[in-house]
Amino acid sequence: MCGIVGYIGNREAFPIIINGLKRLEYRGYDSAGAALYNGNLIIKKTKGKVKDLEALFTDPKDKEGTIGIGHTRWATHGEPNDVNAHPHVSNSGNLVIVHNGIIENYDSIRQMLTSRGYTFQSDTDTEVLINLIEDVMKKENVKLGKAVQIALNEVVGAYAIVVFDKNNPDEIVLARLGSPLAVGIGKGEYFIASDASPFIEFTKDALYLEDEQMAIIKKYKEPEIRNIKDDEIIAPYIQELQISLDQIEKGGYDHFMLKEIYEQPNVLKDTMRGRVLPQKNIIKLSGIDNNLNKFLNADRIIMVGAGTSWHAGLVGEYLFEELARIPVEVEYSSEFRYRNPIIKENDIVMPISQSGETADTLAAIKLSKEKGAFIYGICNVVGSSIPRESHSGTYTHAGPEIGVASTKAFTTQVNVLTMMALKLAKEKGTISAPEFNQYLTELENIPQKINRVLENDLYIQQIAHHYKDAANFLYLGRGFNFPVALEGALKLKEISYIHAEGYPAAEMKHGPIALIDENMPVVVIATKKGQYEKVVSNIQEIKSRKGKIIAIVTEGDEQVKKLADHVIEIPETLEPLTPLLATIPLQLLSYYIAIYRGCNVDQPRNLAKSVTVE
Ligand code: F6R
Repeated sequence: MCGIVGYIGNREAFPIIINGLKRLEYRGYDSAGAALYNGNLIIKKTKGKVKDLEALFTDPKDKEGTIGIGHTRWATHGEPNDVNAHPHVSNSGNLVIVHNGIIENYDSIRQMLTSRGYTFQSDTDTEVLINLIEDVMKKENVKLGKAVQIALNEVVGAYAIVVFDKNNPDEIVLARLGSPLAVGIGKGEYFIASDASPFIEFTKDALYLEDEQMAIIKKYKEPEIRNIKDDEIIAPYIQELQISLDQIEKGGYDHFMLKEIYEQPNVLKDTMRGRVLPQKNIIKLSGIDNNLNKFLNADRIIMVGAGTSWHAGLVGEYLFEELARIPVEVEYSSEFRYRNPIIKENDIVMPISQSGETADTLAAIKLSKEKGAFIYGICNVVGSSIPRESHSGTYTHAGPEIGVASTKAFTTQVNVLTMMALKLAKEKGTISAPEFNQYLTELENIPQKINRVLENDLYIQQIAHHYKDAANFLYLGRGFNFPVALEGALKLKEISYIHAEGYPAAEMKHGPIALIDENMPVVVIATKKGQYEKVVSNIQEIKSRKGKIIAIVTEGDEQVKKLADHVIEIPETLEPLTPLLATIPLQLLSYYIAIYRGCNVDQPRNLAKSVTVE
């Protein structure tokens, strides 16, 4: 959470900082700020979005300068207001910082600094950190880089920071622990950001700081990278970026979320490219091939994740148990990490994450590693912390997901889990060769079937308009469609602010049925296969209590049509593959309801795309 940007070189820093912050706004948008040096230190910050910050730069002179830092904030310490917005300045007015993370022991440091005469304008932990750095600089008579290092050895918490000293504007210092930081390397110039999106039009060469590393960066010089703890010098490892500019732009869509919903047929093809090979009747996943014995001998797989990724794990549980007969548990990483879980040698822990930076999921990995488990990560963002901390894994290849509500990340996660379950089922002999081949052929058909689901767009818009003023929604599904119901409800609540709950359809009778009246829309996933007849009975129970029914049905269904107020058809598929199709109309429904309610779908209130704090 929070996005940070920095630049040092010979170009004007202002447009790089502002455009970079706009690309990082998915990480938080409570406030924004920037600091530039052009003979004077110019600092502007405001509650609100990056466009509000940009509007503060009315004097062209203020936009000058070839060194700068910027920040877009997801508030942790201190309410989102102008004063708490970053950058923060030290008491002398010389040092300036942007920070993503939390300094947990900031209160005791603040007290210590107060007793030494320091004063504070804001409620933030960040202002405490920059003054600690200043205090070290003065006390120890050291340069900025050394002071940052000494100060960071005194703090407890998580951080990605970028700092500069206005008296030495040819140098910028950065450091990370727990929050990501990428450095784009140009010709004598450097771009710094929470991810590579702010600088991909300038350079394809990047290095990623590892945890507990810092870098001192000067124009036209090699970056100096050190371990914060033991001062060891680290050789820079430069990677070539794989993302392109059009991947992170809206490409004619009104919102990233809509673009990402529509990208699903193509990204699922990317997920399966070179992996699903029906002609050879194989699934190639190097992560599994290289660790086959571990998987074949696994007593249990524990999937850990948060939010939408946890929902993907729930689909994974159905897939792995049904197809490969491997016992699976699915845990919220935030619960798992604190409940002293029993992890045995033959357990595989499988973190699932879009961003690869979710703090709780990273902590779950750390704990599982300490207990000796094998970690197999499923992640979208290449090179992010979760894959780096995993022993092996599979990338989802969804491409950058910028809309805060996860869409294509979910379907690609489910797609990867499906491929894994099928591959292991084949290896274990729990499904026959012809069955396996049928799955592969059908998996290949899924992208074009998603295209058919997307053709319902206009009709879904009409349904959305009809229910846009509802105060509550229920989502019901059984079997493979139960996690889809949870995901549908999460999508609606996070972007439209309508209260929504997902339930296994049969659980309705154990409580939620009390809520049903003529004002309650109930979305029921009632596809043929599975426990179809039972779901039809559940629909009848809703109908007899006058609830409004929006049903997701298999093409050609007649039975549910007679009962439901609205039906959205999806093509027929094999039951375990249904989530890949049934999810799509629910994404569109939430999107259009949120649009009709005037909500900011790409940046819903209080949320951030990547949750790098607990
Ligand atoms: C919901 C959503 C969140 C994330 C969750 C985990 O649309 O995006 O619930 O799924 O914060 O994030 P990752 O997958 O990045 O670990």
